[in-house]
Amino acid sequence: MYFEQMQKKVDELKKKKDIIILGIESSCDETSVAIVKNGREVLSNIISTQIDIHTRFGGVVPEVASRNHVMAITNVLDNALSSANLKLKDIDAIAVTYGAGLIGALMVGVSFAKSLSYSLNIPLIAVNHIRGHMCANYITHKDLVPPFIGLIVSGGHTAIVEVVDYIHFNLIGSTLDDAIGEAGDKVARVIGLGYPGGPKIDKCAKQGSYSIKFVKDSLKKSYDSSFSGLKTAIINYVNKLNQKNKEIPVNDICCSFENEAYLPLIEKTVRACKEKGYDKICVAGGVSANSFLRDNLKKSGDKENIKVYFPDFSLCTDNAAMIASMGYFNLLNGVGLSDINLDAVSNIPL
Ligand code: KG4
Ligand code: ZN
Repeated sequence: MYFEQMQKKVDELKKKKDIIILGIESSCDETSVAIVKNGREVLSNIISTQIDIHTRFGGVVPEVASRNHVMAITNVLDNALSSANLKLKDIDAIAVTYGAGLIGALMVGVSFAKSLSYSLNIPLIAVNHIRGHMCANYITHKDLVPPFIGLIVSGGHTAIVEVVDYIHFNLIGSTLDDAIGEAGDKVARVIGLGYPGGPKIDKCAKQGSYSIKFVKDSLKKSYDSSFSGLKTAIINYVNKLNQKNKEIPVNDICCSFENEAYLPLIEKTVRACKEKGYDKICVAGGVSANSFLRDNLKKSGDKENIKVYFPDFSLCTDNAAMIASMGYFNLLNGVGLSDINLDAVSNIPL
């Protein structure tokens, strides 16, 4: 009954000129609430990051993350509303990340979203976090439309996908072990850069040279990737130097890591784009902020007449604007309508 009533509301919303969606994101260590009009216009995007809290532990502690989401989420909602100059009554639907992510962290956002949608009597739309990342590109590039090849690179995922339209994604290749961001964070930890490692590696690599050869890509012809061999080779290299009390060449390690992790992925992404006959590549996820990846993928794309898109830096890492945007496209295409039974799921496929 409730579901049918909400389906009716969705049908009415589709006739409206403007659809205002409130997005909620809490899958890892960012509590975020955003308000987005028509999927592309961000009215507010408030992100409360827990990075300082988790830095002390060298990485995200799931239980600590969940507790901090609980403490932050009401304030983040208030800020999102006041910054957009809107009231709850102005919101047409709620979109929430229900997976993938840390289960306790996801549960905070999902419970909050369910309560809001139920009390406001407006539709609740479930959003896949991995797909949500891609929408950061729709917000950044107002005229960008699918189809294209997507490269999703984050702390939890590394995937080359065919983005057929707003809601249909075909997985072409993924990591067989660590995600690229996760591997970078671990490398950063062993060389003493701390958490989160990606941005620090990005900076240090610019001062270094590609002087250390760690591994060769063993999956050259495939679209799949592997990063744990590279990570382990770097850890062993650092351990040996430590045993001999020798200095760690931090900048050179960072530069070598970037060359050996990113260049094969760039080659695979461009090859996938050519083979599938597309002329656009869109990158998404926290690692899409990386300057080496941005520069080299652009260069490779230029050589093949492929246009390469990256999200605005503010939308690369986790944020609720991309979730609200995905919620909008889900709503228009009859995907994700949920009710009070929506569950958080830690592992969901693309
Ligand atoms: O998308 P995201 O915020 O969270 C997940 O969904 O995983 O991505 C976080 C990841 C972390 O591994 C972080 O180190 C990495 O993105 N990252 C970067 C950069 N900025 C963030 N990696 C490389 N270069 C950067 N500039
Ligand atoms: Zn993410």
